[in-house]
Amino acid sequence: MRVLVTGGLGFIGSNFILHMLETYSDVSITNLDLITYAGNLENLKDTDRHGDRYQFVKGDIADRNLVDDVVSRKPDVIVNFAAESHVDRSILDASQFLRTNVIGTQALLDCCRKYKIDRYVQISTDEVYGSLGPSDAPFTETNDLKPNSPYSASKASADLLVRAYYKTYGMDAVITRCSNNYGPLQFPEKLIPLMITNAVQDIELPVYGDGMNVRDWIHVMDHCRSIDTVMRKGKTGQIYNVGGSCEHHNIDIVRLILTKLGKPDSLIKYVSDRPGHDRRYAMNAQKLSNELGWTPLISFEQGIEQTIKWYVENEPWWRRIKTGEYLTYYEKWYGSLQK
Ligand code: NAD
Ligand code: TYD
Repeated sequence: MRVLVTGGLGFIGSNFILHMLETYSDVSITNLDLITYAGNLENLKDTDRHGDRYQFVKGDIADRNLVDDVVSRKPDVIVNFAAESHVDRSILDASQFLRTNVIGTQALLDCCRKYKIDRYVQISTDEVYGSLGPSDAPFTETNDLKPNSPYSASKASADLLVRAYYKTYGMDAVITRCSNNYGPLQFPEKLIPLMITNAVQDIELPVYGDGMNVRDWIHVMDHCRSIDTVMRKGKTGQIYNVGGSCEHHNIDIVRLILTKLGKPDSLIKYVSDRPGHDRRYAMNAQKLSNELGWTPLISFEQGIEQTIKWYVENEPWWRRIKTGEYLTYYEKWYGSLQK
């Protein structure tokens, strides 16, 4: 199977590529990534040992000529991870979110159609459904789309385009909507890696608002396995929710991290709330487990332990990001990948 992955230098995409190359000997991957601030060539430096089964192309999914060229090589399937993914950045400026998440998705869909690619997989998010009250039932695939941030609005727009291409052109497309991921290689601007690395550095842990917002956590490897399942077995035109049934208040996660690292609660600093901050996300992933047989395998207790250990053991990786030094590695890694 020849898979075109977009955004494969980011957190989930790089974990997905490693999962696919390690698990299947008959899979080859082309990774199209723009190397934005969130893309890190270092994440996939170990792909060398897979030889020709991994290929990297630097470029923008919104660049139609480039996308046409890459898709004309006729992969069997396209999995679109490429996105601007951080809510706080989208609040500061939504422009790049619309360009990448919406226009980029359109370019991929058009080329997918032109070259009659067998399957298109859109990696979406629970955030398209908006926010739940404390006693609301978890989101199902039939919930209305009610995005509240520029980020989630751009992701919901992309989902609607995918639906339209399926309905209008009969394209074989599927959508996964997953809850909050955590695990190795996550950029330290997101809650869990930010809190772990700040705690290690003995700097303040900024908790937004009252810290009582709820997220439904899933280990990135369980998410990657769900994408693999949907890519192979998902029914065309369908949406599949993915979640860990693992709801936690932010403040409890922050306290747990401090405890595990032996650091004091006094490092916690309550700061102004995020504008439009969604109160609670929770996913009902029954459709995916009933129809396709997927279930998460990694408990939160196991996963958070492993994740904290990973960040402690891979301090040079995140220190290079936090100092900005990783940006200078592009030339080094990119140069070596070109050979
Ligand atoms: P990330 O920000 O870590 O990585 C995004 C990657 O996309 C980076 O490598 C970046 O260089 C690349 N990219 C950005 N703009 C691009 C462009 N125009 N062309 C090509 N490449 C581009 O994101 P992530 O956390 O790995 O998320 C991946 C996908 O999963 C996103 O679509 C996101 O919406 C979705 N998702 C994320 C989560 C989560 O908890 N992180 C949960 C559900 C869904
Ligand atoms: P985040 O990791 O940005 O994911 P998302 O907003 O997409 O769910 O944030 C997760 C939760 O943690 C969210 O409720 C906002 C909160 N948060 C903080 O309290 N402090 C922080 O510094 C960050 C980055 C997030």
